[in-house]
Amino acid sequence: MLSIIHKFVICCRCTNTLAFIRLALQSRQNKEQRAQFSASAVYWVLCPNLERGIDYLRDAHLHKGLAFTLQERQVLGLQGLLSGGVKTQEEQVAICKYSFDRFDSPLNKYLYLSELLEMNERLFFSLVATDVEKFLPILYTPTVGLACQRFGLVYRKPRGLFVNIFDKGHVYAVMKNWPIHDVRAICVTDGERILGLGDLGAYGMGIPIGKLSLYTALAGIKPHQCLPIVLDVGTDNEELLVDPLYIGIRHKRVRGEEYHEFVEEFMQACVKRYGRTTLIQFEDFALPNAGTLLNRYRERFCTFNDDIQGTAGVVVAGVFGAARITKKKVSENKFLFLGAGSAGVGIADLLVDAMVEEGLDKKAAQDKIYLFDIDGLLTSKRQSGLPAHAKHFGKDLEPTKDFAKAVETLKPTCLIGASTQGGAFTPAILKQMAKNTERPIIFALSNPTDKAECTAQAAYDNTEGRCVYSSGSPFPPVKYNNKTYYTGQGNNSYVFPGIALGVIAAEVTKIPDSLFLTAARSVADMCTAEDIDVGRVYPPLSNIRKISFEIAKKIVERAYKLNIASVYPTPTDLDAFIQHHIYKTKYLQYVPELYTYPPSEYKTKSIEQISEEHKKKFSQ
Ligand code: NAI
Repeated sequence: MLSIIHKFVICCRCTNTLAFIRLALQSRQNKEQRAQFSASAVYWVLCPNLERGIDYLRDAHLHKGLAFTLQERQVLGLQGLLSGGVKTQEEQVAICKYSFDRFDSPLNKYLYLSELLEMNERLFFSLVATDVEKFLPILYTPTVGLACQRFGLVYRKPRGLFVNIFDKGHVYAVMKNWPIHDVRAICVTDGERILGLGDLGAYGMGIPIGKLSLYTALAGIKPHQCLPIVLDVGTDNEELLVDPLYIGIRHKRVRGEEYHEFVEEFMQACVKRYGRTTLIQFEDFALPNAGTLLNRYRERFCTFNDDIQGTAGVVVAGVFGAARITKKKVSENKFLFLGAGSAGVGIADLLVDAMVEEGLDKKAAQDKIYLFDIDGLLTSKRQSGLPAHAKHFGKDLEPTKDFAKAVETLKPTCLIGASTQGGAFTPAILKQMAKNTERPIIFALSNPTDKAECTAQAAYDNTEGRCVYSSGSPFPPVKYNNKTYYTGQGNNSYVFPGIALGVIAAEVTKIPDSLFLTAARSVADMCTAEDIDVGRVYPPLSNIRKISFEIAKKIVERAYKLNIASVYPTPTDLDAFIQHHIYKTKYLQYVPELYTYPPSEYKTKSIEQISEEHKKKFSQ
């Protein structure tokens, strides 16, 4: 009671009191208005955060721009702080689209979206929801890479936590500075391997920010529950160390025991601050740290590494999709990988799990997978030895560095490129694949586009149009024999947002690889007969919200079966259970409406009807 009185006193002191009293007097006129006024009065007194006036315009969670109604403007003390026009959220979205399209350079588009997010969160996510495929390459790769490289210029306002190595011993205290208590998902990087751009140190912050904005845009996870973090342990990038714009600590990268103690302290601090079911996604750590940290934490924390497991999940989803086209089980294939790094070995490991689920024993499944790296085929006899993370794929064969020869002698039915070597799948290699099998599966996953092992067109041209093709970067539709094919893009976005949503909803305690298989199957199941007919191994990305929702449901189901969920009782209505966790982009109504401005006699044109002249006028 005392606290209510206290709040009331504070409310009464605020500048809106007169407007509020005026509304109270006006609302005496009829019963309905009295009821509405009482509702707003109760809200006003009990409102937990006591934001007033300008705070509603400064806080991106509360901001509605010109969509604040007259009532809200009066009661909240906004009258005069906004121009007189009132716009609906839909009108605002149309204006934002128009503004976004006016920028030519992707980086300027990125900056526009960042500013919008910092100003008005609901408007930002409503805009992105109108055309996810259009906004994805700006919010994430490739544009986010540019933003990271120029992060010294992009950085304006804190949108995540920087925990640096000098904070060692005090990491929990630093984490407590983050003002939000209800964090459910953390995305963390140490900036050592940012996309294909190498060590960007603290500039890597663009990655967790981007990934978490996709959590909301693609799966509807509530934005305030997401926390981007950079573990700044220094950088070995000499250019950045002397760059006046650099925002991180100017120190060589700390490695070894001190690094691992620091990461351990960070993991413990996350759990202490936000609970043991807080999802911690590792992103863009370099090998071998990526693999070591995953193995160290996967059983003890609710964590996954998107570069290893997320990639594996999406590529295996593509293999499941391809299996629907070739009508062969996964285990009826022989796989040859070019590239045995974190992506390649992660995919190979999950393929083994998929084949085991189909009934093969683990050794037999491993025997169906051959890996080739910069030192040649992974065999126990090669001089350079086997990389530790891929030892289990070493074969008892003569070493070779001739990849084309390996394609000829091993006769794989599926070729997977994760080597960063653009054009490595030469026409001769592709032609050999067409000889190896009726429907060769060709996945050229390396990014960006010019690093792809072969283009979609080359794959179709050299396999008589019989291949099933997918890539890491998007390719335009392929024309072959008067038919148009839409090849798949193995974009991690198909998988990680849906997994995260399921994991958060069921408060999962750890994330076994089998959850990635579950997600992969559910993505492949969402391909329609039409998708399969035009060569798509993934459903269109424009359906991503639905795909993520379906994945989340399957993840929750599986989590209860595996006994790793911690929300009880077990939900019976999965749709409602997941829906409860979904962020609503529609503006909140802060104050019930008592009356509105009289309607204007002017009817505006739609934003699409704005004349060319008008566009020209605003083009500078
Ligand atoms: P990584 O650096 O860990 O591994 C690269 C591998 O390629 C190493 O095994 C290396 O020995 C091998 N390699 C390099 N040059 C070679 C050559 N000339 N011949 C044969 N092998 C060679 O890199 P990571 O993280 O495994 O990524 C590899 C590629 O996969 C990148 O281009 C990345 O963009 C792409 N990728 C695609 C994803 C997707 O499509 N969803 C997701 C993750 C990665």
